[in-house]
Amino acid sequence: MLRTLIKPQILNSAVSGRLLIPVRTLATQTSVIQQQAESRKYEVIENMPRDVFREVLASRSVPMREEFMGTQRLTTDDLESIDFGPGKHHNAKTLGDKAAYRTVRFLRLLPDTYFKRNHYMRAVMLETIAAVPGMVGGMLRHMKSLRNLTDDNGWIDHMLHEAANERFHLMTWMKCLEPSRWNRLLILGAQGVFFNAYFWLYVCSPKVAHRFCGYLEEEAVVSYTHFLTDLDNGYLKNEPAPTCAIGKPNDFFDLSDKCTKIVFIPEYYNLQPNATVRDVVLAVRADEAVHRDANHFFADRIAIHRENILEEVMKKHEEETRRGKVHEPSAA
Ligand SMILES: [Fe+2]
Ligand SMILES: [Fe+2]
Repeated sequence: MLRTLIKPQILNSAVSGRLLIPVRTLATQTSVIQQQAESRKYEVIENMPRDVFREVLASRSVPMREEFMGTQRLTTDDLESIDFGPGKHHNAKTLGDKAAYRTVRFLRLLPDTYFKRNHYMRAVMLETIAAVPGMVGGMLRHMKSLRNLTDDNGWIDHMLHEAANERFHLMTWMKCLEPSRWNRLLILGAQGVFFNAYFWLYVCSPKVAHRFCGYLEEEAVVSYTHFLTDLDNGYLKNEPAPTCAIGKPNDFFDLSDKCTKIVFIPEYYNLQPNATVRDVVLAVRADEAVHRDANHFFADRIAIHRENILEEVMKKHEEETRRGKVHEPSAA
């Protein structure tokens, strides 16, 4: 810092002892500048609209599956018992479906060839791609709603949530590795190509776009199953899970025992404090299964021209409430 504020000649003289007083003066000035910068930073926060402050403070990723929203911490057995529909596949019938499926199968060759069994890096690359469709679809449906002056009828929120869920997966894996500069460049290039390609695909045919995403998620389930297999057969070491999937350790004073204990404030998947990467893979794979089923469902709805899912959901909810089978929407 000091070197950037004073000329090199002055600094050299100062180091040799000939300019001791000016250096002290400069050090004092530096400290004042730092204090001013700090106070300006504080002013920026003070000027922040209160509602923005509150929203930033409250912002946290919300899980996608109901299983992760309970108060009980999930064990490995709980995670293994989640039905993720192993081997579930939508049979491609139309030309669009077949094109979507073959494109996804072809694209799979790239990570299979380049990353092979480097599962952490594969997961990072996959999530940077998988987080795009929800955002693009949500954005385009938002635009359609504005253009047509009509409501969106239940699509946008889910799609944006899917994108956020994928981004959480990415952030979780980023706690486990540091991608090389070359891999970061690959991610940049892949995003540039994929975002634009998916955008135009969605503009031209939302049905094929959702079908493509459904097949992409089928492959995500397969990839995470391979990840699990390699953890189980010892090819990869099973490390402790990143804390963002479990919770933050926090000191807590237990009045009954009169001692300080460490408790974990729940986070995202609400796993056990001793959860491992294997548990996280099980949880992430369960999320991918939701994305797979949701996107095939959306493609089906477009195919039969019944896109007002909100109306049908409300009807079903009312009917279930009447029969006493209450299914309250999550507070999230
Ligand atoms: Fe994901
Ligand atoms: Fe996904």
